[in-house]
Amino acid sequence: MISIIAAIGKNGELGRKNNLLWNLPEDMRHFRDTTRGHTVIMGQKTFESIGHPLPNRRNIVVTRNRAFKADGVDISNSLEDTLNSLKNADEEVFVIGGGEIYRQSIEKADKLYITHVNKSFPDADTFFPKIDDNIWQKIKNKKYLNDNLNEYDLEFTEYLKK
Ligand SMILES: NC(=O)c1ccc[n+]([C@@H]2O[C@H](COP(=O)([O-])OP(=O)(O)OC[C@H]3O[C@@H](n4cnc5c(N)ncnc54)[C@H](OP(=O)(O)O)[C@@H]3O)[C@@H](O)[C@H]2O)c1
Repeated sequence: MISIIAAIGKNGELGRKNNLLWNLPEDMRHFRDTTRGHTVIMGQKTFESIGHPLPNRRNIVVTRNRAFKADGVDISNSLEDTLNSLKNADEEVFVIGGGEIYRQSIEKADKLYITHVNKSFPDADTFFPKIDDNIWQKIKNKKYLNDNLNEYDLEFTEYLKK
């Protein structure tokens, strides 16, 4: 099963200049708890932005650059092949970004874990694809109000493909 996990602003904003637009420990905790022990798939740019493999998970980095090397990760030169080979695996596999990879994965995904950040970010340069109501049904919704560590209100949601 292929799942996507992302945190997005009011207009689908994901990032700017290869970084996140916020520092939200509560969302980081949600991300860690949801993906721990699973395989995570990410684009080369997201890997570069994180700077290291995520612990306690199998990390797959996709790049078209056949010379790309990094310690502690599996490298794939084709996102399509990787998704096809894991689609029917028993485990839940998580696509963790970024924009290019979400765009190419959403049609193959079975489930979305979206943290909606209740704020617009006009400077963003990377966006999540539109979540089409005709295709995706919201099955969970949990609100989290901002506090001294988390600047914005959040909504932890899950969507299943109809
Ligand atoms: N808010 C969130 O939840 C979240 C999550 C993750 C990332 N982000 C943000 O998203 C931004 C990065 O996203 P991005 O769209 O710029 O880059 P990205 O999706 O992380 O990576 C794009 C790279 O992936 C490789 N790639 C793309 N399609 C491929 C395919 N079909 N097969 C093999 N490799 C493929 C290419 O690498 P090569 O150029 O090496 O060939 C491409 O340059 C950053 O700002 C980051 O902070 C946000």
